[in-house]
Amino acid sequence: MGDFIMHIKQRIIELTHIVNQANFDYHTLDQPTITDYQYDQYLKELIKLEEEYPEYKLDDSPTDKVGGVVLDSFKKITHQIPMMSLSNVFNEQELRAFDERIRKITNDFSYISELKIDGLAVSILYENGKFVRAATRGNGQVGEDISENVKTIKSLPLRLKEDINIEVRGEIFMPHKSFNKLNEERLEQNLPLFANPRNAAAGTIRQLDSKVAAKRNLDIFLYQIVDADKFVSTQKDALLFIKSLGLKINPYFKVSKNIEDLIENIHEYDLQRKKMNYETDGVVIKINAFNLHETIGYTAKHPKWATAYKFQAESAVTLLKDITFQIGRTGVVTPVAELEPIVISGSTVSRATLHNEDYILAKDIRIKDMVRVHKAGEIIPEVIEVDLSQRKDQEPFTMIENCPVCQSALVRKPGEADHYCTNDNCPGKHINQLIHFSSRVAMDIDTLGEKVVETLHELGFLNTISDIYTLKNYENELKGLPGFANKKVEKLLKAIEDSKKQSFDKLIFGLGIKHVGSKVAKVLVSNYSTIEDLMNASYDQLVEINEIGEMIAKSIIAYFEKPENKHLIQQLMNQGLNMSYEQNIVSNHEFNGKTIVLTGKLDNYTRDDAQAIIEKLGGNVSSSVSKKTDYVLAGSDAGSKLKKANDLGVTVLNEEDFKVKING
Ligand code: IVH
Repeated sequence: MGDFIMHIKQRIIELTHIVNQANFDYHTLDQPTITDYQYDQYLKELIKLEEEYPEYKLDDSPTDKVGGVVLDSFKKITHQIPMMSLSNVFNEQELRAFDERIRKITNDFSYISELKIDGLAVSILYENGKFVRAATRGNGQVGEDISENVKTIKSLPLRLKEDINIEVRGEIFMPHKSFNKLNEERLEQNLPLFANPRNAAAGTIRQLDSKVAAKRNLDIFLYQIVDADKFVSTQKDALLFIKSLGLKINPYFKVSKNIEDLIENIHEYDLQRKKMNYETDGVVIKINAFNLHETIGYTAKHPKWATAYKFQAESAVTLLKDITFQIGRTGVVTPVAELEPIVISGSTVSRATLHNEDYILAKDIRIKDMVRVHKAGEIIPEVIEVDLSQRKDQEPFTMIENCPVCQSALVRKPGEADHYCTNDNCPGKHINQLIHFSSRVAMDIDTLGEKVVETLHELGFLNTISDIYTLKNYENELKGLPGFANKKVEKLLKAIEDSKKQSFDKLIFGLGIKHVGSKVAKVLVSNYSTIEDLMNASYDQLVEINEIGEMIAKSIIAYFEKPENKHLIQQLMNQGLNMSYEQNIVSNHEFNGKTIVLTGKLDNYTRDDAQAIIEKLGGNVSSSVSKKTDYVLAGSDAGSKLKKANDLGVTVLNEEDFKVKING
């Protein structure tokens, strides 16, 4: 070989090394050692030399990272050792139960916790230190060959620091920065947006043209060695070994001696993760020592020596696909966000309320925006903001003018934010009144669900609430309907008959009077024990009651003034529904007629228990402290309500005082 050629070959080796090292420093260590300009110069020189002398191109050349291979399809790859998934725990209690199960087997162990990266699992094979192939998880047994795309990941070395045979597994993900950039570009090109970084990463890894993948800047963390005990004996050492090979690991991992330390760590991770440039959806918890893994064992799907603690994501960003409109039982037309489904607080959300026109305009929410959706506890999911950095040319929102069901013109009353359908015969309204009336929280006619209501409404059997109680006159016709087996009809009619005995407050709630929720209904019946009394109550009398404000009082008066509602009540009375409230409460107790607010944590009662006791003694439980409050029952860690009670001079009871009072 001539000197010149020797020199070229040498230079290619040198450049390959320089650029690979620069990639490692920048993408894996996050510590750049050369400038972008220098990097570009070296890379350009290498590309040029490789083009002229392809025979000297090295296997681990960084020029492969720009992609270029176009496939027809992905080859199947069988995993020698299946890729399992993890069981989940969603709270501390479930985590403690996991710990209990382990401790039935052994007490001598430590945990290791790692961040759970929300991306796609991948298994990568290196032979003699050289990248051979990468496969998706697939069904766990058989995955797809995504080598070409994986090779473009800049933090993934194509050659390890040791020439060994090893299979490593990890998570491919799209950093927030790459994700935002990608969606901005797609918006410009009028392409559909990715709902979240995970979907974007999945879409990218399945590109047949690796050039596309190269441009999208995926990243990877490795967290597992297949057959790890050939190399090390704990998960912690496995991570350190992976790192020593030049592969990227997530820096957040920690060994904990016991469950208390572990839980503390998890809280710490939960705080930290918000600052990170990638999505995490939990913490993976593993038993650190490998020798215990076999002892503890596996189920068909996952190891018993590991689990994933899922963070309670209270909000997430997703694509607002469309805005639709729903009509409620009072005729209010509510705009609804149709979302690309996402998991929030452990459940999938695909629709969220947008409240009303003003709410949408104030937040400038537009169809095809990326929006943040919030859901805490039992609350209905709502869209809380738009990610304006991803806004392009979406059209501003305009409210519809006609009822989505009956097409009659919508009305917006002065001073109100809601649009109403004022057509008393709007089928949409009727259906929702019926559904509400029979729902579990109201009259609880469980066989009369949404579908049945819709069908019977459409066929003309049901229009108003009182029609429910005439259904029995059409038993034979009902039994002839498709989908209405004899048994089903009999069950339905029996449930309807039984509902006549339902408590008075549930009936009042079931009527669907605006602003009268289940709690207000209870307050009403404890003050007016028969329907006649309630219908005769004046506005002034109603507002006298704790819990009943002006708005509620007005709404009640307006409801009972309407002739069709008077007629409905008369019919329900004739049909034999229970319309009075039996006060089996203790009437001479000090709490009788008093309003009590609960706050803080009680040691001996759940909130529900305390409320039930108070109600039994004739008191009402209210959620906010006002001048009308008689007592505040304050447990530990009571906050603003306690302060307000003190400011207003309301009597504050501690748990001991409460106990004395209820027994006295
Ligand atoms: S260990 C046999 N560690 O979570 C156990 N998984 O639901 C193999 N994941 O399929 C998984 N970060 O895609 C492990 N530090 C981590 C992880 C992690 C993310 C993903 C992985 C796995 C899924 C389990």
